[in-house]
Amino acid sequence: MSQTATPARTAGKPWPRRKLDELETFCVNFLKKAPVIGAVPFAGAVSMIENVTSILLYRKGQFQVQMFAVPEGTVIPEHTHPNVDSIEVYVGGNIRFSHSGKYVYREDELFENGPMGLASRRGLTIRVHPNDLHGGTFGKGGGVFLSVQHWLNGVARIASRPITAA
Ligand SMILES: [Fe+2]
Repeated sequence: MSQTATPARTAGKPWPRRKLDELETFCVNFLKKAPVIGAVPFAGAVSMIENVTSILLYRKGQFQVQMFAVPEGTVIPEHTHPNVDSIEVYVGGNIRFSHSGKYVYREDELFENGPMGLASRRGLTIRVHPNDLHGGTFGKGGGVFLSVQHWLNGVARIASRPITAA
């Protein structure tokens, strides 16, 4: 069961006025301060989960950021990551995220937008607490998102998070 009633933040909206928690603070700072080339480590830079490519952008202590590149036609079934608290960030392409059994936004809310043809929901963040079900459907052209992660309970980070089927 979701620990939050509203896991998604609308793209472009400011973060909540309340004190941000540890993961939110890390995510805000990473998005604000990380260079475009990230901080890809020497070890474990790229990994694959089936047809999905993961690029490890950052890893320090219990925090890790992965960029996922997902080909069109891929469906990531809803699953959980026990011991990982994460925020998924919509980078680009054609993605419908789901959380707790529902799509996070309607199909008609997703379109090509502006002179650069960006995804309308680009920049959206979705909080995925440990044991929150989440997944995604990737349409024409595929999609890219970041997973900003806080590994909990002393569990060691791995480049590709284990997927635990619901
Ligand atoms: Fe996941």
